[in-house]
Amino acid sequence: MRIIELTAENFRNIEKEKIEFSPDTTLIWGNNAEGKTNVVEAIYYFANSKSFRTSNDRDLIRFDQDEAKLSAIFEDGGRICNFDVVIQKSGKRTFFYNKVKITKMSEFFGNFRAVLFVPEHLRIVKNGPKERRALIDSSLCQLKKTYISDLYRYSKLSGEKNAILRDYKGTEAENTMLDIYDENIIKSSAKISEIRREYAKELFSRAEKHLFDMSGDRLSYEYKMSGLTSDKNPEEFYASLIPNARKRDIVYHSMTAGAGRDDIEISVNGTSLRQYGSQGQQRSVVVAMKLAEGEIAEEKTKSSPIYLFDDILSELDEKRREYILSKLKNKQVIVTSCLGDEEGIYGGKRVFVNGGKYC
Ligand SMILES: Nc1ncnc2c1ncn2[C@@H]1O[C@H](COP(=O)(O)OP(=O)(O)OP(=O)(O)O)[C@@H](O)[C@H]1O
Ligand SMILES: [Mg+2]
Repeated sequence: MRIIELTAENFRNIEKEKIEFSPDTTLIWGNNAEGKTNVVEAIYYFANSKSFRTSNDRDLIRFDQDEAKLSAIFEDGGRICNFDVVIQKSGKRTFFYNKVKITKMSEFFGNFRAVLFVPEHLRIVKNGPKERRALIDSSLCQLKKTYISDLYRYSKLSGEKNAILRDYKGTEAENTMLDIYDENIIKSSAKISEIRREYAKELFSRAEKHLFDMSGDRLSYEYKMSGLTSDKNPEEFYASLIPNARKRDIVYHSMTAGAGRDDIEISVNGTSLRQYGSQGQQRSVVVAMKLAEGEIAEEKTKSSPIYLFDDILSELDEKRREYILSKLKNKQVIVTSCLGDEEGIYGGKRVFVNGGKYC
């Protein structure tokens, strides 16, 4: 797929602008704080329904305005499509796909697919399991329409179970309720871990090749259901884990086992990347995983996603940058940089940004 043009109105520092993109590479360049990332943020909003920089949509609305509007015209499988969103100060958002209002988030996901590379992604490796789950979940939501409902169900069940645990007094009624919740949470956890585990298998087998070609390093991983090592099938695993965690749940007044604790342990050349990996190794692994993410999306949907690089290409060494660009020939790539590409590395179109104006 290819984004043809984006119109943003009262979004961040943009008053009203229409930006047209090259079907190949578009470089968005300019000084710091002029509005480069704002464009990437706007485009990725259509893929992920949220910003990668803030969890508060109100931050996206231009200061002193009541609402922000984004409209994208894009091509997907030979069809020209429209995607619009209105974000209001109250927090309300309204999406329109091909001018029809979207009423359920499951109708949102999958219409617009993009792979994002931002410096913050290094957190995938460095930080806790949450970032690694988020990486897998955001890709899966774009690929599998029912997955978002699976996640909602899990989050609703765990919220309700936690509410019981918070004020737990030890009554029989509470114990019966917890048994019922556990039965459902076992099923829900098993479903989510199974889907994520399958996806991780595909992701890492591809990422391994990219990392090896880029650096000669060997990548391996372990998917840890509820943060634990096990080769049981997920249903069996959770059926023994969750009831056995009850005493601990009660002590902590909160759920201590379930798919919400899944993690992925990543290793390079047999040692933990998080503990021992150099900055460069961590960065290369993230890049390899992102290239793999794009390939899977392309294979599943039969059209290549849009690749968005915020600042990251200029931070990589020449060898890695060339490797990435060689893998992304004939795909749409949108890059931001403070530099105007005097050397002509990117080719394609250049858009200069100055105070939220694009030319
Ligand atoms: N809600 C908002 N309303 C108005 N302006 C905003 C809003 N949010 C952010 N800005 C402005 O947008 C600008 C930042 O834009 P952006 O993050 O796209 O910059 P950038 O060009 O990517 O910079 P850098 O090179 O430092 O990454 C800042 O000037 C900031 O004040
Ligand atoms: Mg930026």
